[in-house]
Amino acid sequence: MLTDRINTLSESITIAITTLAQELKAEGKDILSFSAGEPDFDTPQVIKDAAINAINEGFTKYTAVDGIPALKTAVANKLKRDNGLTYAANQIIVNNGAKHSLFNLFSATIQKGDEVIIPAPYWVTYPELVKYCGGTVVEIQTQDMSSFKITPEQLKNALTKNTKMLILTTPSNPTGSVYTKEELTALGKVLEGTKVIVASDEMYEKLIYDGTFTSAASVSRDMYERTVTINGLSKSVAMTGWRFGYMAAHNTALIKATKKLQSQSTSNINSITQKAAIVALDGAADSDIEMMRREFKARRDEAVKIFNAVEGLSVLKPDGAFYLFVNIQKVSSDSLTFAKELLAQKGVAVVPGVGFGSEGYFRFSFATDIQSIRTGIKRIEEFVSSLK
Ligand SMILES: Cc1ncc(COP(=O)(O)O)c(C=O)c1O
Repeated sequence: MLTDRINTLSESITIAITTLAQELKAEGKDILSFSAGEPDFDTPQVIKDAAINAINEGFTKYTAVDGIPALKTAVANKLKRDNGLTYAANQIIVNNGAKHSLFNLFSATIQKGDEVIIPAPYWVTYPELVKYCGGTVVEIQTQDMSSFKITPEQLKNALTKNTKMLILTTPSNPTGSVYTKEELTALGKVLEGTKVIVASDEMYEKLIYDGTFTSAASVSRDMYERTVTINGLSKSVAMTGWRFGYMAAHNTALIKATKKLQSQSTSNINSITQKAAIVALDGAADSDIEMMRREFKARRDEAVKIFNAVEGLSVLKPDGAFYLFVNIQKVSSDSLTFAKELLAQKGVAVVPGVGFGSEGYFRFSFATDIQSIRTGIKRIEEFVSSLK
């Protein structure tokens, strides 16, 4: 009954672990979960108010497929202000979350025979969607000693005549690594003279703790022309449930193609979310964003310190996002068993590195309160010492 295409999809390990943790919690077990990928803060009130007004004003009907003009203007203004990027309305499309942006992008550009370069560890969705669209995944492995970033030489070695796309995630889920302007410029140089599209996923842009954020498309004219910039509000403004994402590209034919797909599949995103997103993009919630960023930074600093004091574990201090990618190579060579046993014995849920394409690590989300983080790491320490 099912297609070969749908059978290429695997279930997300993140969701599997989160669900198991929820089931154990429902059974009354004392569970601490560090597996989810969403802020533990509420959506700022000013954004909620904009949505309530939209409902009260009856803004509840179909809209333009690619987003109402005022929203696309807000996206264009944001890209100009924050990223130094100039895009016209026909170079922008609004989607049902950045995941949907990626789905539309891959559907429009990737087919059988195309290779897509994905640096590992990667966000779980990329390889699944690439396979679903018929493409072949080419992984470039990175390690904590190279700050989980690919080098120009690695990129050069991975390129073939079939390379269609390079996916960059900065800041990264699951490692929190952030590419500098110089690093992006050097990667861009390797691509000069090729037709490779860069998909730059910038979802965690606002969550930077050290250094500065640079958009891949901003480093050169060549990179601007080949890059599709993908972003949203889920992580930076605690709006995961609202479903708002967008992509912007120099190539108007590409945006038009994804609009055609969206018009025949989901149509416009929720009209109420569109009104709320304008307020968020225009900066009305910037002080809330800064409050969340500061809180995440404090948690990061403390969690990194405690983890690195645990014998057998080590972790890099991530420059952005809200994840730690903890090295367990001294105590385990099987991250899935490690995570399952940790959950069974200590009631602590983390996501095994193997799910992100990198064995020997687990992902620990610090988008949870500091007391839970302290207790959780203490339990992890007890578990690790029981392994020796
Ligand atoms: C790197 C990255 N990109 C995109 C997304 C998708 O975000 P959304 O679809 O909620 O906009 C996520 C969510 O986990 C993510 O971690």
